[in-house]
Amino acid sequence: MSSTVDAYIESDHERFLEELKEFLSIPSVSTLPEHKPDIERACGFVAERLREAGIERVERIQTDGNPLVYGEWMKAPGKPTVLCYGHYDVQPPDPLDEWVTPPFEPSVRDGNIYARGAADDKGQMYIHVKAAEALLQTTGKLPVNVKFLIEGEEEVGGTAVDRYVAENPEKLRSDAALISDTEMFAPGLPTLCIGLRGMVYAEIVATGAAQDLHSGLFGGAAPNPLIGLAQIISELLTPAYRVQIPGFYDDVEEPSDEEIESWVQLPFDEGEFLREKVGARALTGEAGFAVLERLWSRPTLEVHGIVGGFMGEGAKTVIPAKASAKVSMRLVPRQDPEKILQAFRETVQCLTPRGLRVEVKTHSTAEPVLMSATDPAIEAGARALAETFGKPTVTVRGGGSIPIVARIRESLGIPVVLMGFGLPDDRLHSPNEKFHLPNFFAGIRAVARFWELAAEGS
Ligand code: BES
Ligand code: MN
Ligand code: MN
Repeated sequence: MSSTVDAYIESDHERFLEELKEFLSIPSVSTLPEHKPDIERACGFVAERLREAGIERVERIQTDGNPLVYGEWMKAPGKPTVLCYGHYDVQPPDPLDEWVTPPFEPSVRDGNIYARGAADDKGQMYIHVKAAEALLQTTGKLPVNVKFLIEGEEEVGGTAVDRYVAENPEKLRSDAALISDTEMFAPGLPTLCIGLRGMVYAEIVATGAAQDLHSGLFGGAAPNPLIGLAQIISELLTPAYRVQIPGFYDDVEEPSDEEIESWVQLPFDEGEFLREKVGARALTGEAGFAVLERLWSRPTLEVHGIVGGFMGEGAKTVIPAKASAKVSMRLVPRQDPEKILQAFRETVQCLTPRGLRVEVKTHSTAEPVLMSATDPAIEAGARALAETFGKPTVTVRGGGSIPIVARIRESLGIPVVLMGFGLPDDRLHSPNEKFHLPNFFAGIRAVARFWELAAEGS
């Protein structure tokens, strides 16, 4: 098989690239309502390309959020079924002036394609589409049955796909899921991700006086919500980065010694990580844990934004009536988002200074996941990657979250193969996001090979 597929991919490089550019030109930013028409266009683009690839029963599924795309190819009787998931929505592109070329005008430089969503996740999910096309157009069939489920609100932690999976286990029934929405640990190093952190994203809204007040006439007597938020936040973390929420660490499951040992073997240089990836003066984080542990197997608390009061240029002497802070916690296996959220609410109430009222709003939650590295589907994924890249596959975890993974495992009871082709410097969610084009084409071969190995049940 592989030589015909290789030849097909080889001869159609340019067309694949043009299609990817067209997909990346659609600003399908899920968090901004003004991009609703672009969400529709991206959804339509995916559905159309799946049909052209030879996928059957392709449908646009209306939800109360953004639409889903479903499609299937079920003509391999007796063979396993692989559920392929991806997301067509992207993060907002700002700050715009830091982009070398505009985020929705894809540009190829030095073997990379630069655009918002290039690696997260349009370029990666498109690998699955092109793998199906390459096999169907050359051999007329796929080695396994395949179902596609592509969503449009992953980047906002939307719940449409979660509900759809929970409510349609029969339709989606499969033997394994395949997701390409993670990273390779280093360029050229085949990587399978077996764990992801979960999260709770909340917003603390603090109110004080009935309206904004003159800080000369009222300062010293009226409560200030911005100061209140700063006080609350400073109590949530110790200087050693321990999260000060009662019970926060109770359910944390430590990785096994073998897993930690495998992380020590990875080609990771802390100094280089600091210099090249972070660019700050020093790394921070929970004392007593290695960087990869802090990123993959330890829970954290971060603040993403604090708003309130006078945000314009110059000075205005005002005590704001209202202020809010966006806070998230990344969770690790055995921590329960609902339980953590409850503990967070109680702690925030307890820490609220006199005179203020606070309300905790929830934006999204995601469960942490950890797969078994010895599951046959995971092993088939590792083998497909090793054969494609010509090196043994390393097994890692990821610090990010993909909310649907836990739902797939729970509702469909199947392993999820996280076969990512992004690189550590792809700048996901940042300006100048890119995708390394050789990984796009290698990804197509790896996915085709994975389907083949999955068919053999190896
Ligand atoms: N693809 C990422 C998650 C990711 C990236 C995991 C690299 C592992 C390695 C995903 O699109 C993402 O950004 N998820 C959000 C989830 C949230 C908005 C609910 C995240 O992790 O912040
Ligand atoms: Mn993603
Ligand atoms: Mn993302």
